Amino acid sequence: MRYGYFDEEKKEYVITRPDTPAPWVNYLGSPEYGAIVSNNAGGYSFAKSGANGRILRYIFNQFDQPGRYIYLRDNDTKDYWSASWQPVGKDLSEYKSECHHGTAYTKMMADYSGIHSEVRYYVPLGQSYEVWNLKVTNCSDRKREISVTGYAEFTNNSNYEQDQVNLQYSQYITRTVFCGDRVRQMIHANLDGLKDGEEVDNKNVFNRFFGLAGEKVSSWCGDREKFLGRYHGYNNPSGVEAGVLCNEGNYNENSCGALSTVITLEPGESREMAFLAGMKEDNEAAEIIAHYADCEKTCAVELEELISYWHGQLAHFQIRTPSPEFDTMINTWNAYNCFMTFIWSRAASFTYCGLRNGYGYRDTVQDIQGVIHLAPQMALDKIRFMLSAQVDNGGGLPLVKFTHNPGHEDTPDDASYVQETGHPAYRADDALWLFPTVYKYISETGNFAFIDEVIPFANKDEGTVYEHLKRAIDFSMNHLGRHGMPAGLYADWNDCLRLGKDGESTFVALQFYYAMTILKEFAKYKKDEKYIKYLEEKQEQLGKLIQELCWNEDRFIRGFTERGEVIGKRTDPEANMWLNPQSWAVISGLATERQADLALQMVYERLNTEYGAILMDPPYHANAFDGALAVIYNAGTKENAGIFSQSQGWLILAEALCGHGERAFNYFLENAPAAQNDRAEIRQLEPYCYGQFTEGKASPNFGRSHVHWLTGTASTVMVGCVEGILGMRPDFYGLRIAPSIPKEWEKFEISKDFRGCHLHITVKNPGHVEAGCKKLYVNGEELPGNYIPQEKLTGETEIEFYMS
Ligand code: GLC
Repeated sequence: MRYGYFDEEKKEYVITRPDTPAPWVNYLGSPEYGAIVSNNAGGYSFAKSGANGRILRYIFNQFDQPGRYIYLRDNDTKDYWSASWQPVGKDLSEYKSECHHGTAYTKMMADYSGIHSEVRYYVPLGQSYEVWNLKVTNCSDRKREISVTGYAEFTNNSNYEQDQVNLQYSQYITRTVFCGDRVRQMIHANLDGLKDGEEVDNKNVFNRFFGLAGEKVSSWCGDREKFLGRYHGYNNPSGVEAGVLCNEGNYNENSCGALSTVITLEPGESREMAFLAGMKEDNEAAEIIAHYADCEKTCAVELEELISYWHGQLAHFQIRTPSPEFDTMINTWNAYNCFMTFIWSRAASFTYCGLRNGYGYRDTVQDIQGVIHLAPQMALDKIRFMLSAQVDNGGGLPLVKFTHNPGHEDTPDDASYVQETGHPAYRADDALWLFPTVYKYISETGNFAFIDEVIPFANKDEGTVYEHLKRAIDFSMNHLGRHGMPAGLYADWNDCLRLGKDGESTFVALQFYYAMTILKEFAKYKKDEKYIKYLEEKQEQLGKLIQELCWNEDRFIRGFTERGEVIGKRTDPEANMWLNPQSWAVISGLATERQADLALQMVYERLNTEYGAILMDPPYHANAFDGALAVIYNAGTKENAGIFSQSQGWLILAEALCGHGERAFNYFLENAPAAQNDRAEIRQLEPYCYGQFTEGKASPNFGRSHVHWLTGTASTVMVGCVEGILGMRPDFYGLRIAPSIPKEWEKFEISKDFRGCHLHITVKNPGHVEAGCKKLYVNGEELPGNYIPQEKLTGETEIEFYMS
């Protein structure tokens, strides 16, 4: 079943049926002011932090309420409805609506009883407040009088938990007043008697507002209970039913901002207005509202700006292939998902409330990879930040606080860090993610100066980027397990697999092996002969160890516990086949061709399903070892044999590196949201963004997906597709092109910005192969092999690549 379609031209997903199987949301704003809005206008807003800066309330895990509601009432018939289908929820045979989720804006259109409404929600570029720009048109042939009411439900406290549960406090600090064109909410207003700069209990007065521009306020309400009325809900607020609000604020209990205006429309006539909300001092709020006096013009300009900013970001990499699903994901939705995950980390969605008050090290370093080909400068800033969260012993801080202060942080070796973050120890993989990320950044940009840039460590000391990477190698070398592979420490990528401090993970060993290959490139660049030798020796030793210890006939095992148990061997009753060690054996370059073929074949046979490959098989149930935390999850769920979508990206990459284009693309398609647009009732999640996992075949809900938007899937699948399938493989000195595609593709095109040049690449495949290079022309000149040295690039570079 489908609920909408992709509008390629406008880069919008258009929802034509509002009764979607789950709230389908969009992100607005920036880290200064974030807003999440669903296709039924549910959602919340926050300044800086989802947990500590919550401005508009949203009840998690409930009915996608409340939200940014606009009610319309016909004052003759007294019938009312909302500009989004919910919360009033008119019969869909009479109420028609469309929701357009675009890049950082959402537009909702509704037609009901001859009235057309269009509301555009957005946060203007660089601003920290939100706009609900409404246009109402009378499409009937009689004059209409319509009451328009905007409703914003403020939290009583910026800390979302205090707002939700500490009612004996949070309900007695809030009040609202009316200021002509706005409701002003004050929190801790009783402290306004204090002198400038004085605080009580770290608290002072602060202000939120909900205002109206473009029309005159005819009535208002600042008290949620008065607005809704006893035993009423958002679907039938008494203020809306009555057609006029009570003109009263609140003093204690629950604040809200509700503003009504009455408009009269001749047949064919339209009126435009803007509701505005934010956390601002009252004088600033007044200025903001005044800025929208001519809201039609102001909003049009702002939206244009927003769209061109985002479309500009996406324009750095665009493709045209025979697959519309692939194109829409790579050109728009996966790319936009990468940006959102990059910006919001795991902080705020309808699943994450913002309580994780920092950046997970591995998550963030991986997220960066998804935007390197689109916005390398943005990536660079975050890489610097993450390097500054590396401890001087080379390990990464498991959680990097939003208040991170390089050079002055505590580490997992300090009780204070553990207490504050809840992370008891280092994890084995954190700093190892830096290698592919930093390498990809330098290869994309050619910014070699960065290698020598000095960056502080998290706790003390500083070093060049090269030194940081060397210390990451030291960290693993200084933490080896019983056999001499990197120790398991607290966990590896799989949070639910505790091999023990001295256990050993094959995945980490492979990452470490790969890290050495990458660092050799840096060492060669630095002409650091001694270090090259060191790496060569250590890598050879490690490679031998992995081969001896981890290869098990047709697969790589998952690792060893500190008691010496082997995890993931062929004969285990449960979890005897794992996905990640197979894909990473290929990505790391360790697997021989035979091993790669066998292991990937086993993945295909044992783990693949129509929605992607499951993380391992069979699920843990009665034979879990001590550290197999995944057993707490129902079989087929999350790390317990769910389709953990992030791992799908590595599988795509691994198959593509082997030249298995058919398989690589198949793995993309199985789990691609856009490819499931017609099966939305199964997937349930938005068909335009990734989720953390899909329920595996051991679940009765096989195919249902969860944890939308903020997931490492965005970046790994992006890398799998761009580097793997499309074969864009920059290195320090140029660009290697090595597509790995379905045989039936005859031709595809890539438009890519690269090191200040614009590349237009046409790949032709008349012989219908999956991989390979027959001929390569750059600006008409034939080059040997599939490699373009940087010197061959010109401002506009025409590249013709013949696979066959
Ligand atoms: C979640 C975590 C991530 C971890 C993954 C697998 O996505 O955010 O850090 O690697 O689960 O356990």
